[in-house]
Amino acid sequence: MLISSRSRCSTVLLLLLSFSSFSGSSLPGQEKPTEQQIASWKQEADMLLERAIKQAKTLEALQELLLEEQRHLSQTKQKLKSAEETVAKADETLKPLKESVAKAEAELKPLAEYASKAKEAAEAAKGTDQEKATADAAAKASAAEEPARKKLTGAQTALATAEQMIAEAKKSQEILKANVLKVEKNISKTENEITDARKKQAELLTQEVNFRKQYQTALIDQGKLVSFTHGVAPIYAKRCLACHNARTAKGRYNMENYASIMKGGESGQVIDPGDGELSTLYIMCEDGSMPKDADPLSPEELSLIKKWIDTGAILDAGISPSAELITVIPKSSSRPLPIHIGSHSRSRHWRFLQMESRSPVLGTTRFCCGTPKMVSWSNASPTLQKEFTTFNTAPMVLKLL
Ligand code: HEC
Repeated sequence: MLISSRSRCSTVLLLLLSFSSFSGSSLPGQEKPTEQQIASWKQEADMLLERAIKQAKTLEALQELLLEEQRHLSQTKQKLKSAEETVAKADETLKPLKESVAKAEAELKPLAEYASKAKEAAEAAKGTDQEKATADAAAKASAAEEPARKKLTGAQTALATAEQMIAEAKKSQEILKANVLKVEKNISKTENEITDARKKQAELLTQEVNFRKQYQTALIDQGKLVSFTHGVAPIYAKRCLACHNARTAKGRYNMENYASIMKGGESGQVIDPGDGELSTLYIMCEDGSMPKDADPLSPEELSLIKKWIDTGAILDAGISPSAELITVIPKSSSRPLPIHIGSHSRSRHWRFLQMESRSPVLGTTRFCCGTPKMVSWSNASPTLQKEFTTFNTAPMVLKLL
């Protein structure tokens, strides 16, 4: 059973208004979830979170694999490139080699013809008185042919060597090409796996958030848990943020978002989840030292803060720990609340002016605790404008003015 966010909103509003022990489980038409159900939702959420964490590790491993494959690919491509260059270069040397073979052949041809004719003449002159002279001539011709024949053999060998080298380079080029294709295929496979893993992780987290929301809502409805966004964040934003933000972090304590609130200030962590009494933040609010030089928090606000810490100082499921307070606070808290109006009449206090109309004058004549200041809508910084449309915080505005 899912409780709609609308009904949760109004429940929490009620909670805020009545502050104390609200047991808002008896919403009309809503069945109250049993403890068992709530526990099983929590279990489910925890299990899903564990799976999401595992999935994140899988994803990380896949991303590493992808990097490795990409490195491999670029190396292989580099090798392929140099193989191609080798082939191209070797191809260039082929032409002169072929030419020198042809030249050696041309040189050899007349010498060989002459030598063979001289040999024939020597054969024919055998037994005649020309025998010695023709034999000498044949031997001379044969000797003259010899270097030309050697030169041809040399040129042919050089050509054959070059051709063999080219054939080998081409072979390794083919292997590298096949490798590139293989690695590219692996990469696209890994990329697909990464996409799937991401999708799966997102699904797990969505489910996790749903279950967590469900059990948190149920516990909030039963008054066993205090929501950060609906419960304490509006108080922090209204009463603390002016002195505890990223720019002005008094006590080096930035309360701009959940993460920084939990991180603490110059004295370390100021929230001890599960123990309000021992938490510096609560102690300082309870003894009136915070908010500094201002009206103390109301007993209702104090008990809400204590309960929030006592019940674990949780962040609502699905909210980012680094989301700014003003973005997570429900819009309903922008409604003027009758807080700290000092001696001024309600109607004069800027908090009660009609801001919705975006009137040219944003801040107006009198603040409870400052000199009159004026600021127009167009002059106001985007932060101030946002501030005004989201909720109205006197000290914050004073600060910004
Ligand atoms: C007007 C300015 C002002 C406002 C508003 C204010 N504080 Fe402070 N806060 C300070 C200053 C300054 C310090 C440094 C210690 C000191 O001077 O007391 C401080 C210190 C702290 C510390 C101690 C931080 C640490 O690590 O030592 C906590 C916790 C704290 N504030 C909580 C709050 C809370 C919660 C609120 C709202 C309910 C709040 N403050 C509102 C001025 C402010």
